Amino acid sequence: MNKLLLRVAAKPVLFGLCMLPFLWVTYGAFTSQLGANPAEYLVRATGDWTLRCLCLVLAVTPLRTLLKLPALARFRRMIGLFVYFYVVLHLLAYAWFDMSFELSEIAKDIVKRPFILMGFAGFVCLTPLAATSFNRMIRWMGGARWQSLHRLVYVIAGLGLLHFFWMRAGKNNFTEVLAYVALISALMGWRIVKTLNSHRLINQ
Ligand code: HEM
Repeated sequence: MNKLLLRVAAKPVLFGLCMLPFLWVTYGAFTSQLGANPAEYLVRATGDWTLRCLCLVLAVTPLRTLLKLPALARFRRMIGLFVYFYVVLHLLAYAWFDMSFELSEIAKDIVKRPFILMGFAGFVCLTPLAATSFNRMIRWMGGARWQSLHRLVYVIAGLGLLHFFWMRAGKNNFTEVLAYVALISALMGWRIVKTLNSHRLINQ
């Protein structure tokens, strides 16, 4: 399996898979298959895929360790950039369909609605992570500084969950949110246990 993941074709295949949601909603938009409210569908679908790609990024290290597949690490940057790709689409869909690109109205909305503020904070935190995803930036920053910056991904996961939770609080519909909370808690819990174990080993 690890050999398969090291194949040259593995990355283009992953790229194609990550593009599928975008291609589907674009096709759905042009063929009027996005239901009674296509604008809402597009805002929500791009939000969903932002969060799903974020869960995938957080799952790379646990899966790599538990399944003994070191090659999985080579996909983390691409999946991380797809988090940013979908959040930019999400923000654009919101700005276009919900707010008609009225910047002053968007600014007012960010202040007025806490769930939008959390989403916006998530977007602001994601931007430097996307900007520093390239080898040149990693070399320029140095490994240690780069790693501490990229720990922001844990804050972004929390902001994304809060954003989704507060958005659904208005509709009293928490099922999907709780599934994401459980998954991200498990991925974070695995990291905490691993860190505690490694500290215990060091102190023995
Ligand atoms: C500038 C940043 C953001 C803005 C303005 C924004 C705005 C919105 C809006 C307007 C909705 C739909 C509300 C509704 O239909 O009632 C939404 C839903 C959502 N957003 Fe965001 N968002 C932002 C960032 C994010 C980020 C960073 C994430 C993930 C980490 C995210 C994930 C979601 C999810 C999962 C939904 C729910 C979709 C569903 O109902 O299935 N959003 N967002």
